[in-house]
Amino acid sequence: MDKDLLTTAKEMISKEFEYAKELREVATKFRHPVLQVLLIGISLDSEKHSAFYDAIVKALTETQPMLSEEELEAIKGGIKKHIEQEAEMVKLTAELLDKVSDPKLKLILQMIHDDEVRHHKLLLNLQKKIAEAETLTEADIWEMIWKDVAYHGAPGG
Ligand SMILES: [Fe+2]
Ligand SMILES: [Fe+2]
Repeated sequence: MDKDLLTTAKEMISKEFEYAKELREVATKFRHPVLQVLLIGISLDSEKHSAFYDAIVKALTETQPMLSEEELEAIKGGIKKHIEQEAEMVKLTAELLDKVSDPKLKLILQMIHDDEVRHHKLLLNLQKKIAEAETLTEADIWEMIWKDVAYHGAPGG
C-alpha cells in the first residue's frame, strides 16, 4: 500500500506541476477577470498539490527530523504574527462580503475568506501542538505534529 502511494506520489509531483502550468496558460488566452482568477486559483492549488505530493514522498522515504527547542521557539515566534494577520484577513473579508453586493465579486471574496479561515485554524492548531510538544522529547514529535496539523487543518476539519 505504502509502496503504491510512493510510486503514485512521485508521479503526481510533476503531473500536478505540469497541469498547473497548462491551466495558467489557458488563463492568459482570454481577459475575463473572474473566469481568469478561477482558473488561476485552480492552477495555484495544483502547484500546492505538487508540493504536498513531494512532502508525501519525503515522509515515506526520509526519517522525519527531530525539532530542537530552538527550532520550536523559532516556529512559535514566526507564526504568532501570522495568526494575528490571518485573523485580521478573516475579519476584513467578512466585512467586505457584507458591503459588496455584486455576486461575481462576492464569489471571489468568499473564496479568499474561506482560505483565510482555514489558514487561521491551521496556524492555531500548529501553535497549540508546538506548545504541547515543548514538554515532550521523543524523537517522533515532529511526525506527530505534522500528522495532527495536516488533519485538523483540512477543510471542514
Ligand atoms: Fe490537484
Ligand atoms: Fe491567508
